[in-house]
Amino acid sequence: MATNIATTSATLRDVTKMERIGAHSHIHGLGLDENLEPRASSQGMIGQGPARRAAGIILKMVQEGKIAGRSILMAGPPSSGKTAIAMGMAMTLGSDVPFVTLTGSEIYSLEMSKTESLTQAFRRAIGVRIKEETEIIEGEVVEIQVDRSVTGATKTGRLTLKTTDMETIYDLGTKMIDQLTKEKVLAGDVIQIDKTSGRISKLGRSYGRARDYDALGADTKFVQCPDGELQTRKEIVHTVSLHEIDVINSKTQGFLALFAGDTGEIKPELREQINAKVSEWREEGKAEIVPGVLFIDEVHMLDIECFSFLNRALENELSPLVVMASNRGITQIRGTKYMSPHGIPLDLLDRVLIISTKKYELDDIKQIIRVRAQEEDVTFEEGALDALTQIGSQTSLRYALNLIAPSSHVAKRRKASEIGVQDLRLAYKYFTDVGRSLAFIEEQQGLLMFGESATQTSSNGSGQPMGTEFNANASEAAPMEIS
Ligand SMILES: Nc1ncnc2c1ncn2[C@@H]1O[C@H](COP(=O)(O)OP(=O)(O)OP(=O)(O)O)[C@@H](O)[C@H]1O
Ligand SMILES: [Mg+2]
Repeated sequence: MATNIATTSATLRDVTKMERIGAHSHIHGLGLDENLEPRASSQGMIGQGPARRAAGIILKMVQEGKIAGRSILMAGPPSSGKTAIAMGMAMTLGSDVPFVTLTGSEIYSLEMSKTESLTQAFRRAIGVRIKEETEIIEGEVVEIQVDRSVTGATKTGRLTLKTTDMETIYDLGTKMIDQLTKEKVLAGDVIQIDKTSGRISKLGRSYGRARDYDALGADTKFVQCPDGELQTRKEIVHTVSLHEIDVINSKTQGFLALFAGDTGEIKPELREQINAKVSEWREEGKAEIVPGVLFIDEVHMLDIECFSFLNRALENELSPLVVMASNRGITQIRGTKYMSPHGIPLDLLDRVLIISTKKYELDDIKQIIRVRAQEEDVTFEEGALDALTQIGSQTSLRYALNLIAPSSHVAKRRKASEIGVQDLRLAYKYFTDVGRSLAFIEEQQGLLMFGESATQTSSNGSGQPMGTEFNANASEAAPMEIS
């Protein structure tokens, strides 16, 4: 079966993600200039200059396709922007270069072995840019007619397409009708239908119909009605990941598994066949490998088996750039009794380039809060902004950012347009930070469930605390005075 390897299915890309205000939604890139120098505040990124520059250099190497099989580690205290920088990297890479995110704990699933889920993540991060000649139908929609059966279960229909030289009527099945509806195709649109996959793409509206409606969206694109034959051959380039090729060709799964997200384990023989086929295509000039980025957040959650797998996988010819992030200091390597920096074995650490992120200074914290306030569409009185900056520096940046939304609610309740110090004070009172929560626990000793002493030691008796985070001194217990 290796001779006939499919690389297309109806739609491979994820459905567009829902827009909402997530923790990193203000980040649109790394904010570097053309010399890869970090701008003070750009694309939602503030401060952390050296780390951003380092990430920019790595990205450049990825874009030039030079850096397969390498890995970098971003190490630094909690909320110092490690995940944010990784998001910035993802935004900077084009849609064509894969960026796959995995959190250390995600690999512990019952359905799949750890190494299988890592392998899948690796293969998802390798793109294959394939040049193919396909038959396409391209024309302007004259009319779409849909006939529904009485129950509505089956639909049939006819699609009339034209070019400047001819007009033809095509019969439509349920699947095509659904696609036309999904793409919101109307009479007057110029569309392209890929004959092998049945994929429909809208190219724009025909100039001839430009004056039909006066309420078209600002992003409406106008194109000429095509000329010549409706059916033509065209060379198209599309990028799929190795994992997608695996799944499409897996006998037990089939491409429908891509939609369900339930891909199960894939046989190693199939992967070998696909690798062989892809390298054949490369030699024939039909395909190019696009090594992408695999981001493993909270990498200390991986265990020794995964780390040894990573060591080997990084040496593979088909390996993406692996970016790891960790906020742990010296901690136990999962699955062993040994301690190691960041919980990563020394042999793997030896292979990675380390980028360190530092705790933010007051100015940066203030700027980040400003950017977040803009993102969440709220405004602060200057005094409140200063107070929140103080909170951020004395507790944690993340706690300060988390207070924005509740204090804005409090302000809204008193019908104020700006968040004032009194609103912040209330939010600070309602929601405690780790330091105050710890003080509460100590006060309530014995009343809470499982309340052992806070200074728990590791089971190996080494006396060192388990998983020391960089700033393990969970801040001062006494509440701050907000002035
Ligand atoms: N340089 C920055 N510019 C703008 N926003 C930032 C920057 N650094 C961090 N942030 C924002 O601050 C919050 C915390 O940062 P982030 O989640 O990246 O921390 P982290 O280093 O990954 O922490 P952890 O180790 O706890 O995972 C996020 O909302 C992030 O978007
Ligand atoms: Mg993080």
